[in-house]
Amino acid sequence: FINNGLLLLFAYLLGSIPTGYLAGRMLKGIDIRQEGSGSTGATNVLRTVGKAPAIVVLAIDILKGAFAILAVKYAFAHLPGWLYFTKVVDVGLATWQPWMVVLAGLLALLGHSKSIWLNFMGGKSVATSLGILLAMNWMVGISTLGVFGLSIAITRIVSISSILGAIAAAILMLGFGQPLSYCLFAIAGGTYVIWRHRTNIQRLLAGTEPKLGQKLTPEP
Ligand code: G3P
Repeated sequence: FINNGLLLLFAYLLGSIPTGYLAGRMLKGIDIRQEGSGSTGATNVLRTVGKAPAIVVLAIDILKGAFAILAVKYAFAHLPGWLYFTKVVDVGLATWQPWMVVLAGLLALLGHSKSIWLNFMGGKSVATSLGILLAMNWMVGISTLGVFGLSIAITRIVSISSILGAIAAAILMLGFGQPLSYCLFAIAGGTYVIWRHRTNIQRLLAGTEPKLGQKLTPEP
């Protein structure tokens, strides 16, 4: 179990890589946590740093989620002896693997939004979730991205599209007949992502949520 723990630690540390914060610090000398929405995600990087850095942050944040899952899948496929360092629980690798995928996914999500390098602050885990979904089941990931993209095209508001994507991911996971563990991940992860959007929901209700790339107008 020590090695299973290492995989989970890897997932958390990968999620924790503070891409958006580094973009703000290195390119503009700002602490992005003090700017715009205060999130370290690509949406706030676009708003406060620029378009190209936002695209790079988005890509890396997606890859962080994907790599956390792929590491577990690789270990179970190629390093089973390494995983069974000690046989604490007698379950087969095939039974244990999807649950490890789910735990790694949750820890990568947590790492992105509660980064060990940022005093447990961070982003809203949207891009990292997409990477996780793509690596769990690419059809679910692509379909979720489709829902997100359609919503962006119609509303031009990232937060509402992220929330719709989070709801869609859970429905799609069930619809594509994925294992129970993956469905539970989509429900738990989706709920967490929506919870991370609490202030966005308040702004949406107040009609003050900015559209893609717009600055956040200060509260009166
Ligand atoms: O991906 C996060 C997005 O849904 C909202 O970001 O910066 O507008 O709170 P932000």
